[in-house]
Amino acid sequence: MENAAFLPYGRQLIDDDDIQAVISVLQSDWLTTGPQVAQFEQAICEYTGAMYGVAVNSGTAALHAALHALGIAAGDEVVVPAITFAATSNSVLYCGAKPVFADVFTDTLLIDVESIEANITSKTKAIIAVDYAGHPCDWDALKAIAQKHNLSLVADSCHAIGAEYKDQKIGTLADITVFSFHPVKHITTGEGGMAVTNDTVLAEKMRAFRSHGIAVDTHQRDKDNAWFYEMTELGFNYRLTDIQCALGFSQLEKLDKWLVKRNELAQLYSPKLENGCATPLTCSDDVTNAYHLYVVRTKCRDELFLKMREGNIGVNVHYIPVYLHPYYQSLGYSKGICPNAEKAYAEIMSLPMWVGMHESDIDRVVRFFD
Ligand SMILES: Cc1ncc(COP(=O)(O)O)c(C=O)c1O
Repeated sequence: MENAAFLPYGRQLIDDDDIQAVISVLQSDWLTTGPQVAQFEQAICEYTGAMYGVAVNSGTAALHAALHALGIAAGDEVVVPAITFAATSNSVLYCGAKPVFADVFTDTLLIDVESIEANITSKTKAIIAVDYAGHPCDWDALKAIAQKHNLSLVADSCHAIGAEYKDQKIGTLADITVFSFHPVKHITTGEGGMAVTNDTVLAEKMRAFRSHGIAVDTHQRDKDNAWFYEMTELGFNYRLTDIQCALGFSQLEKLDKWLVKRNELAQLYSPKLENGCATPLTCSDDVTNAYHLYVVRTKCRDELFLKMREGNIGVNVHYIPVYLHPYYQSLGYSKGICPNAEKAYAEIMSLPMWVGMHESDIDRVVRFFD
């Protein structure tokens, strides 16, 4: 059994349709800034219910574009959860602003609403909440705080495309919602991301930002027979290629089926873990979880982690509280500011969760917790 094939915690699934979609683009005129980009943006909008989608070359770029569009700048503070991938708070640093870490709820590891309020100051301009592991945050409570303090609200939903909060798909519950299409996520473009919004001005700002800060796009210039363009602010080259967008579009067609599979895998895990030494995070009744990750807490995490890795189970830990990273420590964040996050960090482990898995794979995993 110890020699069984390596079982990663997450991975992509690529079928012949995906491959054909990519080949078609390679044989076409447009490898980037072509029709596939608009088609993919439109498809994500239709899927999430958002009005505008801005495709970029990573979830990180989407977060950066979102904060830039919201006007986050030096002197501002943005509240972020302690348990997330570093990209969430790094995007605040990219804008010259200061991330302020809020603690998380112990049962879901989602940002704790009271901790957000406790961290709001006169400099706070925005909140980024993360739908950690695929479980939507309490968006009604977050919207209420944002409204009360006149703050922008960003959904880092890199873990949660297709998830639902009170029967509403993630995508329109914050001012801007951000997705990632990294291969471990629900659908992939290799690397890639998208920011969606219902706000015309924010969408236009993000569109310019992904292309050097140039407001008029290539197609408009072609239509107008004009060579003239102006760079009106400093942007980046954050564009996503047509090759990637075609892959994303093809993957999106399978997303609903894959979300059902992820939920089925979660339903298989939970009874099999019941009498063991690991407890899964809880899932609220008013959400449909997208299960990007299947996270359990266990007191003997370090010992089990090693044993499982030796047994070819690709368990992982998501995440070290961001402010404990050496870089953040060098910025002056002290240990102990988010006790729930630090306690959870010692106990959490992500078990394999991806759509190509079978019940026999789950059996291979759960036996370590007996
Ligand atoms: C919560 C969260 N935010 C942002 C990102 C950044 O996404 P990307 O890797 O596409 O840049 C990730 C990626 O893992 C993530 O997990």
